[in-house]
Amino acid sequence: MPYKLKSTNIFLAAIFLLTSNSFVQAQKQSPKKISTDLFGIFFEDISYSADGGLYAELVQNRSFEYTPADRKGWQSLTAWDYITDGFGYGGLSVETASPLNNNNPHYAVLTIEDEGQQGIGLANQGFDGMVIKAGDQYDFTVYIKQVTVKAMPMLVSLRNTKNEIIGEGTFTTDSKDWKKYSLSLTASANTDSARLFVLAKGKGKLCIDMVSLFPQKTFHNRKNGLRADLAQPIADLKPAFMRFPGGCLVHGDGLGNMYRWKNTIGPIEERVEQKNIWNYHQTAGLGYFEFFQFCEDIGAKPLPVLAAAVSCQNSGGTWRIGGTGQRGIPDEEMQTYIQEVLDLIEYANGPATSVWGAKRAAAGHPAPFNLQYVGVGNEDKQTDAFRSRFTMIYNAVKAKHPEITVVGTVGPAPDGEDYEQGWQLANKLAVPVVDEHYYEKPEWFLSNNMRYDKYDRSKSKVYLGEYASRGNTLFNALCEAAYMTALERNADVVSMASYAPLLASEHHTSWNPDLIYFNNTKVAPTINYYVQQLFSVNNGDMYYPNVVSFVNKKTDTLLAASCVKDSRTDDIIVKLVNAGAEPQKANIVLPFSIGSGAKASCTVLSGDAKAKNLINMAPTVLPQVSELPVKKSFSYDLPAYALVVIRIRGKN
Ligand code: AHR
Repeated sequence: MPYKLKSTNIFLAAIFLLTSNSFVQAQKQSPKKISTDLFGIFFEDISYSADGGLYAELVQNRSFEYTPADRKGWQSLTAWDYITDGFGYGGLSVETASPLNNNNPHYAVLTIEDEGQQGIGLANQGFDGMVIKAGDQYDFTVYIKQVTVKAMPMLVSLRNTKNEIIGEGTFTTDSKDWKKYSLSLTASANTDSARLFVLAKGKGKLCIDMVSLFPQKTFHNRKNGLRADLAQPIADLKPAFMRFPGGCLVHGDGLGNMYRWKNTIGPIEERVEQKNIWNYHQTAGLGYFEFFQFCEDIGAKPLPVLAAAVSCQNSGGTWRIGGTGQRGIPDEEMQTYIQEVLDLIEYANGPATSVWGAKRAAAGHPAPFNLQYVGVGNEDKQTDAFRSRFTMIYNAVKAKHPEITVVGTVGPAPDGEDYEQGWQLANKLAVPVVDEHYYEKPEWFLSNNMRYDKYDRSKSKVYLGEYASRGNTLFNALCEAAYMTALERNADVVSMASYAPLLASEHHTSWNPDLIYFNNTKVAPTINYYVQQLFSVNNGDMYYPNVVSFVNKKTDTLLAASCVKDSRTDDIIVKLVNAGAEPQKANIVLPFSIGSGAKASCTVLSGDAKAKNLINMAPTVLPQVSELPVKKSFSYDLPAYALVVIRIRGKN
């Protein structure tokens, strides 16, 4: 039932305000416009979030570029087995003399003296095996260069753990130069642990590189796409924005490890792979084009974060000696680096006729991606080296692209030297938005609920770019929910916020907690995920103060509430949080009149405070939705340990 603004109701509301305690506060606070970009996501390739995770490539180490620098013990043939099962013999080596291209130096060289009964070659283990589904199609591609052979028949197969073939195809090589061969394989059976076999059935010598296998069913059926079952819950968050590519990954473990966006676009075989700062390997297969495209697919504004031309202060493990590992790009290289930042904006927004816009168009997207934000720096140590480089980049972007909102950085903690000095620099330069980060105990989020009420509205806006309470229990999630009501209340100064990190592979977790855990077959959104989702799908653009009062609330930080309106629908959304063990009564006086018999949807997330949604068990806490009759003024009995979202429909 739509609500209506009636003069009698305004009069009654005024009487109520005059006679209630909340009047005093209402005098001080009036409805205010708030950011519509408030709730977004933080994506970093940490804990196998991209390679071995969201990026749907099934072959691990597809271009033989793994090295011990990625991880101790890793080398060019990690994840590969040399196959001579049918009594064949020959040899396998890794060489660099005549590569596919200079960005992709290593390749396998297979010498077949006798193919035996089955052929000889290579098998890839995937990332903990490959999940293959009966009836589904898989795109196989490989680059091969013949060395001492005119034509080589090749057999490509998917095999289960019993070595049974569950999908196969053949082709014959025909080139002395590197040439790409493609096949589509149709799976005949299900398995969670397939291997991909590439066998040569003849005599001679071949060079092999970029062995790739993708399910055709990716998210939105994109080529070089994303795992659909993992991308969908991200899309279901309906994030206002998506930050990419991190995190520490942005500034890197030393200057040579910095994330350089130009290395991550174009044909996948030409991208520059490198060590992942989280102790594995980064193919850049999920690079900047895929990021922009995913943002478009899920309706999120892209928020690329680029290094402020300094490496991570903890490079080389120097957090043990005070974070002294920060290094700056040399002065003589700064103009090139600044141009790189400007070129990203052209890549995203420039016309298809511009140099970088043309590369976007060549990748299949002639229209611009409508980039609005660019982050510069990631929780960097505030040093002279940082300050001078940040200032140069900031001034250059501001001068060339005044339409872009630059997001600066104020250190890795909610207070302290880097925070203070980061804010000083932001104030000096009038940086539009600064990025705050904090990972704290759940109680911290309760006791700091008023943090942003005290922020100066005339200074930079805040992007709370990384935050999480340390855990995935319902209690953790509710402490975050209570804090998120404060973010809404302060969304005139906090313009964006993103929980971090977003994804973690169950068996390759570098950081806890995370929002979504996954393995090759399962995806487990945490309870924290549902809190994020309930806020992001129930965001608003106007905040109404003093709508909720708790009967027992004195200075109890376990209780929190907010009220926003979504002007697109005229819906009013009331959020109630009880992070305590006792049920509570909330009195709600809506800021508008509503028609008699009005109903709202009421979503409750509640349960045992210690409950967690674990990957190998049915979820214990999920949102429950029901209809709730509402009036302009009504009471709600809030269960213990609960987030309740009451959405009162404005337009039907
Ligand atoms: O979110 C995990 C890490 O935490 C990020 O990479 C870094 O920015 C922060 O320290």
